[in-house]
Amino acid sequence: MPALPLIIDTDTGSDDAVALLLAAASGLGDIRAVTTVAGNVPVTVAARNALISLETAGRTDIPVHLGCAGPMLREASGAQDVHGEDGMGNTGLPDPGAAPRDGHAVEALLSYPRRHPGELTLVTLAPLTNIAAALLIDPELFTRYRHVYCMAGAADLAGNVSPTAEFNVWADPEAARIVTRAADADKVTWIGWDVSRKDAVMTPADQRRLQELGTPMATFTHRINRTVADFARNVTGLAGYDLPDPIAMAVALDPALITEQERAHVQISVADETRGQLVIDRRVSAPAPNLTLVRRVDEAGFKKLLFDTVAAPGAPLPGDAPAG
Ligand code: BDR
Ligand code: CA
Repeated sequence: MPALPLIIDTDTGSDDAVALLLAAASGLGDIRAVTTVAGNVPVTVAARNALISLETAGRTDIPVHLGCAGPMLREASGAQDVHGEDGMGNTGLPDPGAAPRDGHAVEALLSYPRRHPGELTLVTLAPLTNIAAALLIDPELFTRYRHVYCMAGAADLAGNVSPTAEFNVWADPEAARIVTRAADADKVTWIGWDVSRKDAVMTPADQRRLQELGTPMATFTHRINRTVADFARNVTGLAGYDLPDPIAMAVALDPALITEQERAHVQISVADETRGQLVIDRRVSAPAPNLTLVRRVDEAGFKKLLFDTVAAPGAPLPGDAPAG
């Protein structure tokens, strides 16, 4: 199967980083560009972390673009309580060798699919600010992509940042509104935090397996997610840390991993108490579905892809490269 040509939009924190490894090093993805946005961390930190992650996968050639520095209307919030001050588990990683390329992320999101109409798959792992900004310029943008996969929302209304909302939608709910209004269920698939919570939890046994593998990518994955492990223990109450962006990326790379999905008409709440919550209309009289919502994924298949990918020799771990 030829590798899937991808554009990836990310606010690179520790789980985005693992999603980038999957796209760059599994052999299933062909990343044409990475666009960055404020979310987990400020946008310049997100770009730095994206470059470090790609370098860890041995890919210093992939262009990374800086994007929007904050949400459309809201104050930037950040998730450094989850992913660490540096977004990478406070691991003190050295600066990457490469720098962000010229050209704003929104420009990149608009121009790549114009040059390759219908060929590229867009995967978003972050608040939807860049995507909404691009849609305001080109309302037909989604038709120019082959498919759009978003790590966004919580279709069972169990949230991670509030009782009912998931971070990427909560952080910029107006942007998410713009996206859902431009979406159609044949073109746009959301993989929400409910899937991550059920099918992408790295149990203590999985974490030990990463440590035992000991390859640069396995060690990187283990180290950068240590603050998420604390958050999972203290806040979300999972039996390990979850990997929302990697499972969304795995679905994009191999949709056969989906075991349950629904098509529905979805709106986004911007009200104070329910900010960022999905409003899913499941009535027979509902308007035409605008999103496909993935509800369950083959956990074993996802973990096999993850372990197979990080088991590869890869590049030396950032900071551990031999001198000279
Ligand atoms: C999403 O929010 C971020 O903290 C993660 O990187 C992921 O994209 C999960 O809700
Ligand atoms: Ca993310």
